[in-house]
Amino acid sequence: MAVPFLDLKKQYSSIKEEINLEIAKVVEGCNFIMGPNVSAFEKELAAYLGAKHVIACASGSDALLLSLMAAGIKEGDEVITTPFTFFATAGAIARIGALPVFADIDGRTFNLDAKSAIAKITPNTKAIIAVHLYGQTSDMAELIGAAEERKIVLIEDCAQAIGARYKDKPAAAIGDMGCLSFFPTKNLGCYGDGGAIVTSNDETADKLKILRVHGAKPKYFHKYIGINSRLDEIQAAVLRVKLKYIDGWNARRREIAAKYDDFFKNAPGVTIPYKAPYTEHIYHQYAILVNNRDSVLKKLNEAKIGAGVYYPLAMHLQECFKYLNYKAGDFAVCEKVSSQILSLPIYPEMSETDISEVCETVIKSL
Ligand SMILES: Cc1ncc(COP(=O)(O)O)c(C=O)c1O
Repeated sequence: MAVPFLDLKKQYSSIKEEINLEIAKVVEGCNFIMGPNVSAFEKELAAYLGAKHVIACASGSDALLLSLMAAGIKEGDEVITTPFTFFATAGAIARIGALPVFADIDGRTFNLDAKSAIAKITPNTKAIIAVHLYGQTSDMAELIGAAEERKIVLIEDCAQAIGARYKDKPAAAIGDMGCLSFFPTKNLGCYGDGGAIVTSNDETADKLKILRVHGAKPKYFHKYIGINSRLDEIQAAVLRVKLKYIDGWNARRREIAAKYDDFFKNAPGVTIPYKAPYTEHIYHQYAILVNNRDSVLKKLNEAKIGAGVYYPLAMHLQECFKYLNYKAGDFAVCEKVSSQILSLPIYPEMSETDISEVCETVIKSL
């Protein structure tokens, strides 16, 4: 029996009437840009995250870029981040003209190792971007301490972590700014591209609101050289419907993860995801480590069980970052993890039969 990696149709079917109604209202109202749904969504999401401000924008990638712009990061500045992330994290740093500085990851959580990151701080370090990979927050305590002490801006890349918590704090409300993605496959996904920046700093929020509309305030009077990066009204309407369900969906993901954990915990050759004591995981991905990853992946694909590799090549080894002069072996933990990591299907609409099918096929594919 086939189990897809993700089934967005099932989720749509479960909320179809509400979604269609809200989209139709936007289309009938013909107010497509920065309308009432965007401002209502920003307020509702801020309340959900316990933060003062949410500034919606066009994508998670833009959220990262805008946050660096708001922090005043400029050419020659250094920004420390993890090499084990989606391209957008490192891409945003390079696009603004700053220097991406990578540090190794923690082999259990797959997130930036705080000590390695802190060791990379120089007088030119202006920001740290901690990525909460797969839905589990980074270990933030030491990073917060170092950032406060040295006046470095701390940005959270929460593209994969909406609804996750670090101790008593929601992800995105821990650092100076938190960046979210509403890409359709995310735990809170819209029906196109979308993103947001979360902050509790009034000045930063004002700057972000100006930067996302070409740096203009008022219109046609440009205070900054900004960009065009707004969340569409239709996407905001979709997200307002979905936000009501996010906690239930995340809880179901945790339930599925617990079933996988139970099944795989004694499977020879499989390392189940480590759950750090300081975090509440929202399992955007359920990622295991297996030695013969490529052959397992091939067998799963042949058996029509969805599986994916996030990410097969670390950022410091990407062709576009050759100019940074990193080489294979620089981040041994990250490189080992990227050769063994394998994501299994995890989404709230999975049936018990789907879960068993994945478990049994993985065991047969080892
Ligand atoms: C860790 C991480 N950062 C940034 C992004 C970029 O988000 P978007 O695809 O909305 O631009 C993504 C999403 O793909 C991501 O997973």
